[in-house]
Amino acid sequence: MGKRLYIKTYGCQMNEYDSSRMADILIPLGYTLSETPADADLVILNTCHIREKAAEKVYSEIGRLRLLKEKRAADGGEMMIAIGGCVAQAQGEEIMRRAPAVDMVFGPQSYQALPELIEQAKLARNGKVSERPAAMDFAAVDKFDRLPEQTSPQGVSAFLTIQEGCDKFCTFCVVPYTRGAEHSRSVAELITEANQIIAHGTAEITLLGQNVNAYAGDDGTGNPASLASLMHELAKIDGLQRIRYTTSHPRDVDDALIAAHADIPKIMPYLHLPVQSGSDRILEAMNRKHTADDYRAIVARLRAARPDLALSSDFIVGFPGETDEDFEATMQLVRDITYGSAYSFKYSPRPGTPASDMDDQVDEDVKSARLRILQDELGRQQKAFNESLVGTVQSVLFERPGRHAGQWVGRSPFMQAVSVDGAEAAGIQAGTLCDVEITGTYANSLAGRLVNLGDTVAAE
Ligand code: 5AD
Ligand code: SF4
Repeated sequence: MGKRLYIKTYGCQMNEYDSSRMADILIPLGYTLSETPADADLVILNTCHIREKAAEKVYSEIGRLRLLKEKRAADGGEMMIAIGGCVAQAQGEEIMRRAPAVDMVFGPQSYQALPELIEQAKLARNGKVSERPAAMDFAAVDKFDRLPEQTSPQGVSAFLTIQEGCDKFCTFCVVPYTRGAEHSRSVAELITEANQIIAHGTAEITLLGQNVNAYAGDDGTGNPASLASLMHELAKIDGLQRIRYTTSHPRDVDDALIAAHADIPKIMPYLHLPVQSGSDRILEAMNRKHTADDYRAIVARLRAARPDLALSSDFIVGFPGETDEDFEATMQLVRDITYGSAYSFKYSPRPGTPASDMDDQVDEDVKSARLRILQDELGRQQKAFNESLVGTVQSVLFERPGRHAGQWVGRSPFMQAVSVDGAEAAGIQAGTLCDVEITGTYANSLAGRLVNLGDTVAAE
């Protein structure tokens, strides 16, 4: 009988990509994906370390899995528990010490070794070797060289990791410690992988990296390519309809990237460009290495290149030393830019990062109050943006049937979910790109009706 695999993914899109690649590695070994850990022979938690209490959440999940594992053992079966991702990278040894039920730990740069890790874990369980396997090295061998082809269909919209790691060392952030130094995959490798996923029916690719615009993969002549030149290459692939990229750092937005937004229609006019704060003092303490006005200038240039560009961002309130004035500077920046959507967080000290040791940590109450004010404003902006689209015609890439009979749901260029009644009868399928008139807004999505059907149906 085949073995069952359950993967639970926490955190960012990079982890989602990694989880699907883990499945690509394990399916050829006879595993099939399971929707639940209850019947799984191998459970992988692909963990995230960016938020507070990340490790605690992992330990409580391990506690629940341990009970399932014991039940399985009592029934004469076996369940393996593997902890991967960034919590494993940061605290793998401790997880092994504290949680005997865990069979193996591995970091985000080591999952290509899963087949070996599983074999070693079996030996450890049978007492043939004393140590359970732990793989937390940073890319001693290039992980991507060892990954198999993308075998499972990724859906209409797929992720493609082009760059990993971060050399920026923002003082609040654990990523440089868990994901390691910046590393870019080569253009040739990425074009091959893009062709594979497009052959499986994908029409939209989101290029992923912690600092995706620091991309500098080999262009085939031994020189570094830029994100802009990579996107020019990708845009040549016929079946690819849409290109997105995330997450970018303002410091790495260069002229070529701005020009690409004007020159490549397949790049969607929606950009996640985190700023974190609008106060120069705080930006400096965060080690962001740009000012609020630098950010305003970059946005102005991007909007000049692509006038319909909508922006999204990440914000942190209550960074150590943040005064009312600093916070007001953030609010001013938000009002100046106007965002289509955004994520905002209370600063939380992450062990091992410079900011966690800074004086002047801000009171929780103050952080909560600022977060509320910021989120109110961002919520208002998002609502206004959604409403501004009512009556306009947008191209929608359809992904899945909706909740009502005959309805389909797709994405606007700005990533909003758009639901369209009667779409099935009009021949809409997964992967159809079609013009839709936006007729209304819901809390988190839009409603629309098909126009010009036939003119814009996606090429196969
Ligand atoms: N506290 C609060 N938010 C954080 N982020 C990263 N580290 C922290 C932290 N220590 C947020 C940043 C980043 C997003 C992915 O998570 O805004 O852009
Ligand atoms: Fe973290 Fe800053 Fe690197 Fe982004 S740029 S991953 S926030 S250190």
